[in-house]
Amino acid sequence: MIHAEIDINQEAAWSLERLLPRLEDKLTAEIEADPQMWQVFQARLQEHFPRLFRLYHHLYAKHYDFFFYLELLLISMAKAAFERPADLRELDSERETNPQWFQSNQMVGGVCYVDLFAGNLTKMHEKIPYFKELGLTYLHLMPLFKMPEKENDGGYAVSNFREVHPPLGTMEQLAELSRALRKEGISLVIDLIINHTSNEHEWAQRAIAGERRYQAMYGIYPDRTIPDAYEKNLREIFPEEHPGAFTWFESLKAWVWTTFHSYQWDLDYGNPDVFNHMAEEMFFLANQGVEIFRLDAVAFIWKELGTNCENLPEAHMILQGFNALTRIVAPSMLFKSEAIVHPDEVVKYISPDECQLSYNPLVMALLWNTLATRNVNLLHQALATRFNINPATSWVNYVRCHDDIGWTFDDADAARLGINGSDHRKFLNEFYRGRFPGSFARGLPFQENPKTGDCRISGTCASLAGLEKALREEGPEEVELAIKRIALLYDMIMTLGGIPLIYLGDEIGTLNDYSYLDDPAHKDDSRWVHRPKADWERYAKRHDPSTIEGRVYACMQAIIAFRKTHPELAGGELETIESGNTSVLAFSRAYQGSARLVIFANFSEQEQTISARVIEQNNLPGKQQLFGESTLTPQHNLVLPPLDFVIFG
Ligand code: GLC
Ligand code: GLC
Repeated sequence: MIHAEIDINQEAAWSLERLLPRLEDKLTAEIEADPQMWQVFQARLQEHFPRLFRLYHHLYAKHYDFFFYLELLLISMAKAAFERPADLRELDSERETNPQWFQSNQMVGGVCYVDLFAGNLTKMHEKIPYFKELGLTYLHLMPLFKMPEKENDGGYAVSNFREVHPPLGTMEQLAELSRALRKEGISLVIDLIINHTSNEHEWAQRAIAGERRYQAMYGIYPDRTIPDAYEKNLREIFPEEHPGAFTWFESLKAWVWTTFHSYQWDLDYGNPDVFNHMAEEMFFLANQGVEIFRLDAVAFIWKELGTNCENLPEAHMILQGFNALTRIVAPSMLFKSEAIVHPDEVVKYISPDECQLSYNPLVMALLWNTLATRNVNLLHQALATRFNINPATSWVNYVRCHDDIGWTFDDADAARLGINGSDHRKFLNEFYRGRFPGSFARGLPFQENPKTGDCRISGTCASLAGLEKALREEGPEEVELAIKRIALLYDMIMTLGGIPLIYLGDEIGTLNDYSYLDDPAHKDDSRWVHRPKADWERYAKRHDPSTIEGRVYACMQAIIAFRKTHPELAGGELETIESGNTSVLAFSRAYQGSARLVIFANFSEQEQTISARVIEQNNLPGKQQLFGESTLTPQHNLVLPPLDFVIFG
């Protein structure tokens, strides 16, 4: 019948029927040696292949050699399943029975660079007792793969996904570290940098050498015709580094798609060969013991002429395809999306079938907004309207990370509160650069774009929260306030719902480090101001309450201990409460029918009062005060000292 639409499920079933005997043929030795794995693998295929097929078909059926690539993919999958080490197979079955393990209130994340935090992987191993002391259950090591020697975007330019950057150690050491961490209940999180490779990667090198197959893995154009057509609709991501999205390479005599730096070449996922190659890199790393992949720059992975090439439906299909692969090969694996884009787009990456975890860039930006404005309205609105996600997924809430802060709130949301989005972003940039009168912050601009006036902000948590200015220019009272601001931000992310993520260094109040200006490879990228080398002499003071380090650390420990002992803080269910005071955010938390915790956060440096009406509506007189310094007056008003964070339960 000419007009019958193809029945994709039927096609999937037939394809699998045809492919299985071919796999059995290719993998006789493996199947004989490990018949049980073959059974498991087939069972998982029966369940997840239809979904994988649907996605792969949608993306690649227009290629005449579609079936060839599908077969190659299945072979790689089966090989990876056979190679999966015993302890990880065990983890797979454990998590298949408890897929929501990451909702626990025990979850606390940390993130750091191997070289800057410890030196190398061996020394990182020695830090495990520290991670335990802090209470981490999730450790994200920033990119540690082989990278170009000088400029490498902090490792985000990968030259080989299967080799650890030699100064940091070896792949065996990484696998060893993952096992040691797992023994202590800490999941290893590593970046999967899928959008691009460095120009020193073998694929790029072979493209430069003229191999057609490898040239077809990147966006390479002989002249400006196609780049110009695309650029009509593209946003500039790193405008200080190069204008537009393409770079001319004399070695190739061609323009290469480079969304980020010119040494980071975008892969072309329109080509199934790229999907398959990246899948193999992913399987390899999953089998080293990586439990969670942070999927880098996911918004950019699919390009379509006439669009802005961000957040396209096919980008989601690629991620869903990778998700289906992990369900079959390494089902304990989770994905975390790094989509630092408009909030409407951020949530589209979050689903059990795509990325189970996601950074929460909106809440991050609005926490800083609230400190600057002392007005909780935007944050309250975001928590009320944009925080709830599928209960089988989770936010990763953070205060700072290795990147800049971009003000990614929605202009229409802001307009509803009478705020002009673009003026407000200008204010926030002025405030956090320390140029707005009375600002406590010491931040730096990042990627200022003179054409659009856009700018983002760099700086450590402590410097942005006022500690740098207070210590250098003010005095003990301002220092006290700065410490309270740091504590308040971390109190928020530890209790909001989702996995809290500490940018390691923040827990001892690490300040900006301006020495990056002396390094030619870093001086043009202000993000290095908040990527200092860990100072272990300062860490040694963390238990001394007379030091800054000790005071910040004590705040951090207090809220982590609270989180770990209150199962109400598991999961992500949050209800906002009208506090009746524009400087005080109020919300409640409960998990699976537990009693409710009621939380108030004073974002101003002035004492604030909550009326008896709000207190009684939330039944606070019948609850206990569990955290914070505030007091209920005999008249049932709640009086919150400056920047106080109070929990009733
Ligand atoms: C991600 C990383 C950032 C990097 C970019 C390009 O956004 O977080 O540090 O510059 O990707 O890889
Ligand atoms: C842009 C990208 C984001 C990336 C950041 C790096 O904002 O959208 O993905 O993290 O640049 O600075």
